Amino acid sequence: MKYKIAVIAGDGIGPEIVEEAIKILDVVASHTGCELEYTHVLMGGRALDETGVPLPDETVEICKASDAVLLGAVGGPKWDNLPGHLRPEAGLLGIRSALGLYANLRPATLMPALADACPLKPSVACDGIDMLIVRELTGGIYFGKRGRSVGEDGEEAFDTERYTAKEIERIARVAFKAAQRRRKKVTSVDKANVLESSRLWREVVHRVAKDFPDVELEDMLVDNAAMQIVRAPGRFDVMVTSNMFGDILSDEASMITGSIGMLPSASLGDGSRGLYEPIHGSAPDIAGQGIANPLATILSAAMLLRYSLGLEREADAVERAVAKTLDDGLRTPDIAGSSQNVKVVSTAEMGDAVAKSLKTALTAREG
Ligand code: IPM
Ligand code: MG
Repeated sequence: MKYKIAVIAGDGIGPEIVEEAIKILDVVASHTGCELEYTHVLMGGRALDETGVPLPDETVEICKASDAVLLGAVGGPKWDNLPGHLRPEAGLLGIRSALGLYANLRPATLMPALADACPLKPSVACDGIDMLIVRELTGGIYFGKRGRSVGEDGEEAFDTERYTAKEIERIARVAFKAAQRRRKKVTSVDKANVLESSRLWREVVHRVAKDFPDVELEDMLVDNAAMQIVRAPGRFDVMVTSNMFGDILSDEASMITGSIGMLPSASLGDGSRGLYEPIHGSAPDIAGQGIANPLATILSAAMLLRYSLGLEREADAVERAVAKTLDDGLRTPDIAGSSQNVKVVSTAEMGDAVAKSLKTALTAREG
């Protein structure tokens, strides 16, 4: 089998972490005999510097013609003062939308080896943390009408949260289907006590729930959800929510799993093509120092194998190789904690260690 993978290394630490994920994909390719053809394309800050726009048409075309897109991160202070439509982030929102990737899966799990890095008291995190945030990705306030004007009181600005029943229904289905393969519980997060868009959200989610009688549904207001994530994270299985709430709550959920440097994501649409990226940003403050944590990107590559290439067993093997590397005590600085029993390693050393462990596992399987 031959697969086309578009690679957007991006800005800041993007190129460093993507390089490690490609190392891992190459190990999988050499052991499964599938051929991975990478095409590097521009998006974000580098695209702005080289082409004048954050998302060149060529990038969209190549991504559309690929089986999957692997992305590092985009953005940085250099481009912060550009108008909204020219910011690197506009490229990210643009590619998600152009590829129809409305469902963003963000699994937050606390790996046993990282229990020390979890900022919650052991008594709070004792039930473990294993939740999947299903974030709506191509609608809501990030895509709604916005603008500025000058009114009676001077300058004004507005953004609009708008959802159609169709958009809510399709993301709800993704969440219920995911819950069927997990612990069969969906928490739908909204702000239905204030927002009309949330009231529609709640109605539609309840309608969809009727098609999934084996899954338990609860509603939760977003402010309460923010609290419950740090009060009793073990209670969550699948959480489904809007674009903005999902953006905010997934950063919170990532922190309780040890570090934002650990959380992968898959953005999917109706077909098998997906975009895979860590949930963290481009971290310009540590770029080029070789200290960034590549694990969120490596785990995103595992999701790529699972959802876009159908290589489920290999995806499992990558996840186990990451767990094994952490069990062996290797840590990048962000997850080092205060324990004496860990070895702090660089971005590349971490990638090499995961690749080595993966090779051993895949070789054992062949033998
Ligand atoms: C994320 C990021 C992006 C988002 C930004 C960079 C536009 O925060 O993937 O969570 O808000 O979706
Ligand atoms: Mg975010």
